[in-house]
Amino acid sequence: MCGIIGYTGNRELINILTDGLKRLEYRGYDSAGLAVVNNQQLQVFKTKGKVKALEERLHDHLQLLSTASVGIAHTRWATHGEPNEANAHPHLDNAGHFAVVHNGIIDNFAELRNRLLDQGCRFASETDSEVLAHLVAQYYDGNLLEAVASALKQVKGTFGIAVIARDLPQTIVTARRGSPIVIGVGAGETLIASDVTALAAHTDRVIYLNDDDIALVTPETIDIRSLENVPVSREIAALDWDISAAEKNGYDHFMLKEIFEQPQAVSNTIRGRLDFRTATAALSGLNLTPRELAMINRIVIAACGTSMHAGMVGEYYFEDIVGISTEVEQAAEFRYRNPIIEPHTLVLAISQSGETADTLAAVREGLNKGAVVAAICNVVGATIPRESNRGIYLHAGPEIGVASTKAFTCQVTALLLTALLFGRNRRLSQTAGLELIEEIQQIPTLIQQVLDHADKIEIIAKKYADAKDCFFIGRGNLYPAALEGALKLKEISYIHAEGYHAAELKHGPIALLDKGVPVIALANDVPGKEKILSNIQECLARKSPVIATATNNDTSVSHLVHDVITIPSCSAFVAPIPTVVALQLFSYYVAKERGCEIDQPRNLAKSVTVE
Ligand code: F6R
Repeated sequence: MCGIIGYTGNRELINILTDGLKRLEYRGYDSAGLAVVNNQQLQVFKTKGKVKALEERLHDHLQLLSTASVGIAHTRWATHGEPNEANAHPHLDNAGHFAVVHNGIIDNFAELRNRLLDQGCRFASETDSEVLAHLVAQYYDGNLLEAVASALKQVKGTFGIAVIARDLPQTIVTARRGSPIVIGVGAGETLIASDVTALAAHTDRVIYLNDDDIALVTPETIDIRSLENVPVSREIAALDWDISAAEKNGYDHFMLKEIFEQPQAVSNTIRGRLDFRTATAALSGLNLTPRELAMINRIVIAACGTSMHAGMVGEYYFEDIVGISTEVEQAAEFRYRNPIIEPHTLVLAISQSGETADTLAAVREGLNKGAVVAAICNVVGATIPRESNRGIYLHAGPEIGVASTKAFTCQVTALLLTALLFGRNRRLSQTAGLELIEEIQQIPTLIQQVLDHADKIEIIAKKYADAKDCFFIGRGNLYPAALEGALKLKEISYIHAEGYHAAELKHGPIALLDKGVPVIALANDVPGKEKILSNIQECLARKSPVIATATNNDTSVSHLVHDVITIPSCSAFVAPIPTVVALQLFSYYVAKERGCEIDQPRNLAKSVTVE
C-alpha cells in the first residue's frame, strides 16, 4: 500500500514525480504529496484525494519549483489516521530540515511517539510515519545515511522509505524492510520508487533493494549498505517493460482493457511451456528434478483474495489430476496457525503483485520450516518470487486496475500446467497428458468466445445494476469461480455480494433470498450440473431472479432461469476460466452502470503490503 517515487538529477522533476505517482496510484489514492529541495529550503505540497488534486495545487508554483534538483513524492492508502491533508506524506521534523515518505506500518509507533513527545517533539499528523522524520532529526549529525539507519533500527514493522534533507540538494536516502523499493539507474539521474511501473518511462536499468538495505543515491552515485553500515552489492537488472502496456490504449478503464487482454495474457503464460513429445509441461523455473518432484507428498497453497480463489481451483487440479493431497491457506493464517510442514511439502505462494505482505510471510514461514517453496507471480523481480527462489512467472503484463482480472485466468492456467507436470511425473498417462495439453491450448480461444459476447453480458448486467444484495453459487471447481465472481462484483460496484457453495445455501443464507436478491448460478455443463439445477429451483421458489452461466444452447438451464450468460463448451478442468471472464464482464458493466470508479474502488489498494 502507498506508492513512493523520488528523483535526483538535472531534469525538471515535478512532472516526473507526479507522473510517477499516477502510475503508482493503484497502490493507494487517499491523499498525495511531494517535497523538494529548492534553494536550500524544503518545499512541501500535499492534498487530500488523488494525484490530480495535487497537480492542481502545484499548478501555480511550477515556475518556482523548476529549479529543484531533488524531490520525493507519495500516494497514500491510509492505515494510521484518516485520509486528510495533515496525514498526507511527506512528513517533516519540527525544524523542517528533513522530509520523509513511508510505505508500511510501524508497529511500535505508539511507544516511539510517546518517547518523542516526552522529548519535546510536536506532531503534525496522526500517522505512524511521522515518527521517522523526528527520529532522523534526532540522529542527524551531518551524515544522512547514518541518521536514517539509526532511526530505522528503532523501528519494528515494515518500511519502504525515502528521505531528503534541505542542505543536500542532490541526495535521497532510501531503505526497505517488507515494503519494496526499486532504484532506477539513469544517465546523470537516479530515481527510486515502490515499483518499476513508475520508473519504466525513464530507464531500463533497475536495482531491487533487499530487506534491511539502505541506499544513498545522487544523480551519479548509488551507495548501498546494510543497516549496520556494511557495503552490499546488488546487481543492476535489465527492465523488459513495454510502457504502453501500462496505458489504457483507448479502453474506458484499465479493468476492461485487462479483461480483453486475457486471450493474449494466457497465451503468454502458456508459451514455450508445453512439451508435446513427453506430453508434459516445461516449467524450468520450478527447478525441480523428476526425483524431487516425485518426493513431494503434499501441497499447501498460500495466497490472498483473487489469488487465493485461483489457488482453490488449483486444489481441484492437484487432487484430481495428480492425486496429491492439497490444501489452500488464507496466507494471513499460515504462519500464525503453526502449520504442519514436512520436508516434502511444497508451499506454493500465488500473488499477482509478488508483494502481498501476508503471502510473503507465508513464503518465509515455509522456508523457515524447510518446505520446498515456489511462487506463481506476475510482477517480475518482486519480493515473493525473489525470496522463493523458484516459481512460474505469468507474463500477463502489468495489471493496473485494482480489481484483479487477467492475473486470475493466468494463475489458473499456470496451476493447470503445474498439475500437468506433476501428473505426468506420477499417475497421468501420456494420452491423458496430451488431452490436457489440448485443453490448455484451447483456453485463449474459449476466453475470446466469451469476450465476443460482451455486449450480451452488458445488457444482462444493466438489468441487475440496482440490486442491493446478490449471491453467486457454484459447485466443484466452479465454487471458487463463484467466490471470485462475488468478490469482483462487491469490490467495484459496492453491491453486497456473497459467493457460496451451492449446497451450502440452504444451511443458512437461503433465509436472505427474495425477489430483490438475484442469484448468479454457475450451471455450466460439467459434473454436478443436475445438482445445481435443483439449487436453482430452490432459489426460484424463494422468488429470487436467477442468472445462470450455461454451456452454449443448454435449454435445461435456459428454460429455468431469468437470464443466461453463455459459456463455450469445454472440459470441467478449464471451465472456471471462461466462466470467471464472463463474471468479470458482468461486474464491470454493473459497476459502469452505477457510475462507480472502476479502476480505483474506494478503500482499496492493489498491492496489500501491510498485514
Ligand atoms: C481482488 C484483488 C485482491 C488481490 C489480493 C492479492 O480483485 O485484486 O483480492 O487478489 O490482494 O493480491 P496479490 O495477488 O498481488 O498477492
